[in-house]
Amino acid sequence: MSILRVPAPAKINLFLKVLNRREDGYHNLQTLFHFLDLNDYLEFELKPEAKGIELIAGIDGLDMQDNLIFKAAECLKNYAKQAGRSSAEMGQGLSIKLEKNLPMGGGRGGGSSDAATTLLALNHLWKLDFSIDQLAELGLTLGSDVPVFIRGESALGEGRGERLNKLQIPEFYYLIVKPDCHVSTAEVFGHRELTRDSSPRTIRAFLKGGDRNFQSFQGLEALIQFGNDCQTLVRKLHPEIDQSITLLDEFAHAQLTGTGACVFAAFETQDSAENALKLLQERLLQQTAQQKKNPVIERIMLAKGKNISPVHQLLSY
Ligand code: C5P
Repeated sequence: MSILRVPAPAKINLFLKVLNRREDGYHNLQTLFHFLDLNDYLEFELKPEAKGIELIAGIDGLDMQDNLIFKAAECLKNYAKQAGRSSAEMGQGLSIKLEKNLPMGGGRGGGSSDAATTLLALNHLWKLDFSIDQLAELGLTLGSDVPVFIRGESALGEGRGERLNKLQIPEFYYLIVKPDCHVSTAEVFGHRELTRDSSPRTIRAFLKGGDRNFQSFQGLEALIQFGNDCQTLVRKLHPEIDQSITLLDEFAHAQLTGTGACVFAAFETQDSAENALKLLQERLLQQTAQQKKNPVIERIMLAKGKNISPVHQLLSY
């Protein structure tokens, strides 16, 4: 039986404004989503002789029932049944293997991206033929960040982040620092000190000729400078993040993505990003030597920004 191997890309929030709290408890946001060329990989294999869904290489400490990949598969199966759709493939057993490269709780959409890839891949493998709109609606029931991965294009997100207006962003380079801590999105959004009264930003001023394209690195920097409304609170809650921002800020403007924990800085060229990475690594070595170990940073990654998700290219959505 053949195996379908599909990437699940990372995203960053180039800025994130929290506008207000809604009656349903969620927040209305304004955020700019961009993909990165860093991926988890999922392998899907139909097992005609088996029944049910099996998840291999699950995540340590996370029950399979709670895993968003498993939930996405179950959710699609129920949705198909309700819609009266079925196929021979859907009746077979299914094994899903996860190659986890993106750190959990990173603010780079790892779990949401895995869930979106599962919906897109199984829609294809089970020959269900649901539209992107249907999958995005279904994805929103799994998490606010799932729809952008279903649509697979860089976009300005509003509402919970599911009202998406695609936006071509020039593909620059990013250093991503993962501080050695985990942030609870629910805790950040539920915190009384969160800034949740920002006014929406006017993006149009940044778009050349009204065609939703803006080309210069300075244009991108100006958008990033809109800031992340979760950052002040998250820095206060997590000293590792505070110290990571201070450190990365020495080389370029550093900012939180999503509710964290990851922190990013943008660079116009690969050379400048590589150079900053080298200097940052040297600085960490110095600190490590002084303190015997570095408790703050878990990982540093260099990535290129991407406008289109690789899943859509692979599965021809
Ligand atoms: O939608 P998701 O499961 O990712 O949300 C995680 C937590 O973040 C939830 O507790 C939700 O209340 C909060 N959240 C929010 N407003 C958003 C997105 C998430 O309050 N736009």
